[in-house]
Amino acid sequence: MLIKVKRGWELPESAVTPEEVYVNRREIVKALGIAPALAAAASVLPAGLAFASIDGVPSADLYPVPRNRKYTVNRPLTTPRDATTYNNFFEFGSHKQISKAAQRLAIRPWNIKIGGLVEKEFEIGIDDLLKQVTLEERVYRHRCVEAWAMTVPWSGFAMKQLVELAKPLSGAKYIKMNTIAESKDEMPGLRQSWYPWPYQEGLTMEEATNEMAFMVTGLYGKPVPKQNGAPLRLAVPWKYGFKSIKSIIRLTFTDEKPKTFWQSLAEKEYGFWANVNPAVAHPRWSQATEWQLGARQSDRVPTRLYNGYGEQVAHLYPKGADESYFR
Ligand code: MTE
Repeated sequence: MLIKVKRGWELPESAVTPEEVYVNRREIVKALGIAPALAAAASVLPAGLAFASIDGVPSADLYPVPRNRKYTVNRPLTTPRDATTYNNFFEFGSHKQISKAAQRLAIRPWNIKIGGLVEKEFEIGIDDLLKQVTLEERVYRHRCVEAWAMTVPWSGFAMKQLVELAKPLSGAKYIKMNTIAESKDEMPGLRQSWYPWPYQEGLTMEEATNEMAFMVTGLYGKPVPKQNGAPLRLAVPWKYGFKSIKSIIRLTFTDEKPKTFWQSLAEKEYGFWANVNPAVAHPRWSQATEWQLGARQSDRVPTRLYNGYGEQVAHLYPKGADESYFR
């Protein structure tokens, strides 16, 4: 990411809070009976400006959806306000305060084009798609390459369900995904012509059909807000956040590794795999530690390999490829 590196990110070891300490604090909170309030936040808290744009969304009555308790995280949830007001969505500007500007995005009608190496190319409206999948809620960690992290309850469906609907041919090895990029009035960031629009990301077929790859349509028990990627975004929590492409309008099955938005911009800084790895520094800053939205940037905790999801995804990568960032 073309960002200004803050020196505070490279803190001395003494300033880092180990995750065990953090988690123990949480246990204390739990013992005091405050934790249920945190859990309940998932369905009741969203209110006010940050979520105003979802009023009247056709599929809003589908939420909240049942939580899949298999996907929980031993960390406090990020508050809805933090998760919906501190965002990366470069189509609306290259800073974090894009939540208001993002309300211009028209999210209906919203047709998703499925093409490339599939039995038959087709287009499907988001509300029709939502009728054909099983929705669930999963609490996931999210780790931005910039070293901030959050923990949020996404609603959505396993990406595998979308792959099955698409009926890919056996030659398909990758899925290329694109964000809408139609109007500079709607998305003022598109005027920054040095960026290689449209935003593009990709996964291997094995990654896309892994149980963790999740298509997001909701957040905190409501339709996902525009600033977080309405009406359809990806969540691949073992990878840096830039892989989790927002407001998807096209998925193309292909036998060629797609070049991603960030690779086109700075190939030496952003890899295709982009797996979270504390041992592999970004060329301009360390990835050894991270801070959670809502905490002080100086309150660091260690970064975890694959963002803590090694059990589910490590087998996807060749042995010894712990540096699996730049592939
Ligand atoms: N998708 C698009 N289309 N445009 C973007 O700028 N930013 C990425 C990812 N998806 C981005 C995107 C980055 S860098 C991150 S960290 C996450 O979105 C941020 O998601 P959030 O704002 O919901 O926290």
